[in-house]
Amino acid sequence: TFAWYARMRQESPVHYDEQRGSWDVFLYDDVHRVMSDYKSFSSQTRRGVDGQQSDMLLMMDPPKHKKYRSIVNKAFTPKAVEAMGPRIVEITNELLSKVEAKREMDIIGDLSFPLPVIVIAELLGVAEEDRALFKGWSDTLVEGFSGTEETPQQLAARKNQASRELYSYFMQVIERRRQEPQQDLVSALLAAEVEGEKLDLPHLLSFCLLLLVAGNETTTNLIGNAVICLTEEPGRWRQLADHRELLDTAIEESLRYRSPVQGMVRKAIADVELGGQLIRKDQLITAWIGSANRDEHKFETAEQFRIDRHPNPHMAFGMGVHFCLGAPLARLEARTALNVLLDRFPDLHARQGQELKLLPSPMVYGVQQLPVLF
Ligand code: HEM
Repeated sequence: TFAWYARMRQESPVHYDEQRGSWDVFLYDDVHRVMSDYKSFSSQTRRGVDGQQSDMLLMMDPPKHKKYRSIVNKAFTPKAVEAMGPRIVEITNELLSKVEAKREMDIIGDLSFPLPVIVIAELLGVAEEDRALFKGWSDTLVEGFSGTEETPQQLAARKNQASRELYSYFMQVIERRRQEPQQDLVSALLAAEVEGEKLDLPHLLSFCLLLLVAGNETTTNLIGNAVICLTEEPGRWRQLADHRELLDTAIEESLRYRSPVQGMVRKAIADVELGGQLIRKDQLITAWIGSANRDEHKFETAEQFRIDRHPNPHMAFGMGVHFCLGAPLARLEARTALNVLLDRFPDLHARQGQELKLLPSPMVYGVQQLPVLF
């Protein structure tokens, strides 16, 4: 991946892929432009069967996007996220207590996979007794195609089934909160309004689902990738355990160096020139965030992990109007998970001789398992 990016930045930074019939963009400035210039590059890369715009915030363009984003911004506030802090510490401690006696764990399976699902379930107000059900659905939704037991069609059918069940579950939660508001995100979303406009039911449902799709796997990978970055160099974990003031820059550098989201897709609204190339109306463009974040024009020693890198204008959370709504939550979860890990296991290290298996999709970066000893 990273070698390919480096070669493309040199040889063909705005590249037309004949086979796929779409564009790939590799330089920091170009990726920045493709993600933020919504007048030229649309987020509506697909249309529904009925040709309608998607109800998903992520796929909307301004001015529609501005309206819905400002409504959800009112509910999904930094304050609401901060209030989760103590609970995230508790959940992390519970997860680690299960493995402590073994002196080894899989960072992914034992910590970074369950943590964000539990957090988002609590944030949305999913009842304790429904937690397992809920986790099953959201796991299915983000499952990648593994190519063994079932066909892609079967997987798609299972995903459809899971999202239908999740929708009807959320319908019930929404109905209950409508009658009796609580201190949770769904109640806040029901109450949120901007200039007299509220979220209607389809948009509220889509948004709840988006939180699962956009927030779980990404956060899992952020925590996993950070642990890889911090354990691949001898002494780095210990250094951080003793110098916790480096934690924030360490997380930002992990986001840059191993970005959980490697690429975002846009569609040209009209013919547009980029890096001396003519992109035609309706052509798709992949903006390679993972390449932009290693562009040596922007970052000194870009191919090195520097734990104290500052400033660090990486684009791991995107850029422009779609900038990740969940960034404060993702950062809080990562900071908490790492702090608790560093407190409890200051001598944590990667298990030697284990080849780390990357996730199959080129659009995300993360490992399937991450065995560590402590
Ligand atoms: C948008 C990355 C965690 C919710 C985005 C975008 C990126 C991103 C790159 C921009 C998409 C675009 O421009 O088309 C990440 C990463 C995460 C993370 C790397 C973790 C490390 C989360 C979490 C949540 C979340 C925890 C919520 C619980 C969203 C939403 C959007 C979004 C709702 C759409 C915003 C909009 O369209 O206005 N994220 N995300 N993300 N993210 Fe995240």
